[in-house]
Amino acid sequence: MESISLWHCSGVMRAQVALIVAFSSSALLVYLSLWSGHDLWLEIIITLIKLSIPPAPRPFTPTRHTQTIASYNISAFDMGISQEEWDRLQKVLDWPSPDHEITELGLSTSPVHTTFSTVGFNDTYKVGDKISVTITARDHNKNLKTCGGDFFQAKVFNKKLKASVYGKVFDHRNGTHTVDLLLPWEGQAQVSIRLMHSSEVVQFFKKYWETSFPRNHYYGYFEGPGPKGVRISEKVKCNLKWIYDGSWSKGNCCCEYKDEKTETVWQCERPKQLSCDYWVYHERGPFQSPLTPLEKQLIASKLTNVGIPGDTRIINVLSSSASIGNAERCRSGLTTPVPAGFYFQDVWKSFVCNTRRFSFTQMADCLANKIIYMMGDSTTRQWFEFFERSVPGLKRLNLHTNSKNGPLMALEMTKNIIIHWRPHGLPLQFRKMPAVDLHYISNEIDQIAGGRHTVVVFTIFAHLVVHPLTFYVRKVAKIRQAVVLLLKRAPETTVIIKSGNTGLTKNEYGNDWYRMQLNTVMSEMFSDIKGVVYMDVWQMTSCHYSREDIHPVRVIVVSELDMLLSHVCPS
Ligand SMILES: *[C@@H]1O[C@H](CO)[C@@H](O)[C@H](O)[C@H]1NC(C)=O
Ligand SMILES: *[C@@H]1O[C@H](CO)[C@@H](O)[C@H](O)[C@H]1NC(C)=O
Ligand SMILES: *[C@@H]1O[C@H](CO)[C@@H](O)[C@H](O)[C@H]1NC(C)=O
Repeated sequence: MESISLWHCSGVMRAQVALIVAFSSSALLVYLSLWSGHDLWLEIIITLIKLSIPPAPRPFTPTRHTQTIASYNISAFDMGISQEEWDRLQKVLDWPSPDHEITELGLSTSPVHTTFSTVGFNDTYKVGDKISVTITARDHNKNLKTCGGDFFQAKVFNKKLKASVYGKVFDHRNGTHTVDLLLPWEGQAQVSIRLMHSSEVVQFFKKYWETSFPRNHYYGYFEGPGPKGVRISEKVKCNLKWIYDGSWSKGNCCCEYKDEKTETVWQCERPKQLSCDYWVYHERGPFQSPLTPLEKQLIASKLTNVGIPGDTRIINVLSSSASIGNAERCRSGLTTPVPAGFYFQDVWKSFVCNTRRFSFTQMADCLANKIIYMMGDSTTRQWFEFFERSVPGLKRLNLHTNSKNGPLMALEMTKNIIIHWRPHGLPLQFRKMPAVDLHYISNEIDQIAGGRHTVVVFTIFAHLVVHPLTFYVRKVAKIRQAVVLLLKRAPETTVIIKSGNTGLTKNEYGNDWYRMQLNTVMSEMFSDIKGVVYMDVWQMTSCHYSREDIHPVRVIVVSELDMLLSHVCPS
C-alpha cells in the first residue's frame, strides 16, 4: 500500500507545486486576458501551464489492483513446493530489518562513521590462522545502531600478490557484526570491509520484492497483415503475470501467453489492429522506480558499496606446515564452505575440491565427445565465447541469430565437441529477438535425452532480480523437477548449476543483496538433489580486485572454467 501510494503522491505533489508556480507566473497574463478580452492570452496561459508541469513519472494508472500485494500471500502450492520447504526457505532467507521505517537520512547507517577493528591483533600469524574483525555500525549522527540488517562484504587481500579471500559477515542483530577471515597465503595481508547497503536500503529492497509494482517492463512486437494486406508492425508493453495483474497496461489488457508445462503466463497489451496470434518479437523495456525521495537519498552512490574505515594495519603471515587446500576429487554433492577458496597470483585455489588448471588443448581433450547444453544469461554466454575463442578447432556455426541473443552453437569436428548456448525464457532483458527462441530451462531439459556424453549447465539470476522472489522459487521448482527426471532417465548426465555472481549495479533494479538471496534459494532447493553440481562463483567475484561487473573479467572466467572442467573431467 505504502510504496505505491507514496510514490504516487510524490508525483501528484510535484505536479501541484508546478501548477501553483505556473498559475502565479500566469496571474499577470490572466489579468491581461480578462482586461483585454483576447482568447490568445488564454491560449498562451494554457501553453505556459502545460510547459511548466515537470514530466510526471511514467504513466501508471491506479486501479483497484494497485495496492501492494504481499508476495507471502502467494501460497507454497502456487510456487509448486511444500509448505515445509517454503518455511525452510523463509528461514534461510531471513534478514534482520530496522524495527521501524526511518523518516530522515541521518538515522540510516553511515559508511563514514561505521568502523571495524581487529580482535587481539598479533604481530605475526601463520598460514591457516584466522583473524577476527568486529564491525560497529553507526548512523550519520554518529549514534550506535541497535538493529542489524546492514549488508557488508568483507575480504583479506594483498594487491601485489593479486591475492584475496572472502569472509562471511555474521550479524548479531544489535548493530555489531563479526567476521572471521582466513589467512591462506604467506606474506602480507590487509582487511577490507565495504558497506554495500544500509539496513534501511535492504528494508525497502525487501518491500519492493513483495509488491505487485513491476519495476521492469518489456515490449512485444506484433507483425501481420494490416487493413490493406500490407504487413504492419505494432509495439506494445508486456510483462509477467504473477502478482502483477496487468494494471501496468493502459487499459488494453491483455493478450495472454501461457506455457502449458511451466504454467508461466506472459501478458502483452492488446495491439490495436492485429490479433494476439501475431506476437513475433520480444524486447527489453524501461525500468520504473517505486522509490520515494528519501529512499533515493538512502541509496545514493556515496552511501553504496563504500569501504568503511578501520584497522587496516598490515598483517604478517608466516609459512606453516599446515596444508591448505582440498585434495578431494570434484564431484556432485559437495558443499561450498566459507571461504570457498582464495586468489593467489590471480589464480583461484578452491577449497571445494581439487580444481585443475586447463590449457586450451586440455580443454579440448576434456570436451571431446561431449555435447554441452549451456543455458541462462550472458554470464554463461561468456563461457561459450571463451571456449569458442580458446578451444583449438572449435567454430561457431552461423545460425542466423543475433550473436548476443542466440541461440548459439559451436562445433569441433575431429574431437566431436558440440556446444549449445541459449538464453533462459521470459522474463529476459535482451534486445529484440524472436519470442519463440525463448525457451524455459525446465522445458529445454525435458527435451534432452542425457547420458555420459551430456553436460547440462545453467544459470538464472540476473534477469530475475526485478521480479518477485516467489516467482523465482516457482521457476527453480520447475527446473528441479526437470533435472530430477533427467537424472532418472540418464543418471550419468553431468548437471552443473552456475550460481549468480556479483555485479556493478546497486540499485532497485539489480543489486548484490537480491542476487545473493536468489543464490540462497537455488542452492537450498537443490541441496537434496543427488547428482547435481552447484558451482558457487559468488565469492570468486566478490573478493576479486577488479571493478565489479555482472560480466566478470577474463581471469575470473578462467578460474570459473577451470572449476567447471574439473567437474566435467575430474581426473
Ligand atoms: C495477505 O494476507 C494477509 C494475511 O492473511 C491479509 O491481511 C492481506 O489482506 C492479504 N493481502 C492481499 C493483498 O490479499
Ligand atoms: C596471538 O598470539 C598468541 C601467541 O602466539 C596466541 O596465544 C593468541 O591466541 C593470538 N591471538 C589471536 C587473536 O590470534
Ligand atoms: C551484540 O551482540 C553480541 C553477541 O551477543 C555481543 O557480543 C555484543 O557485545 C553486542 N553488542 C552490543 C553493542 O550490544
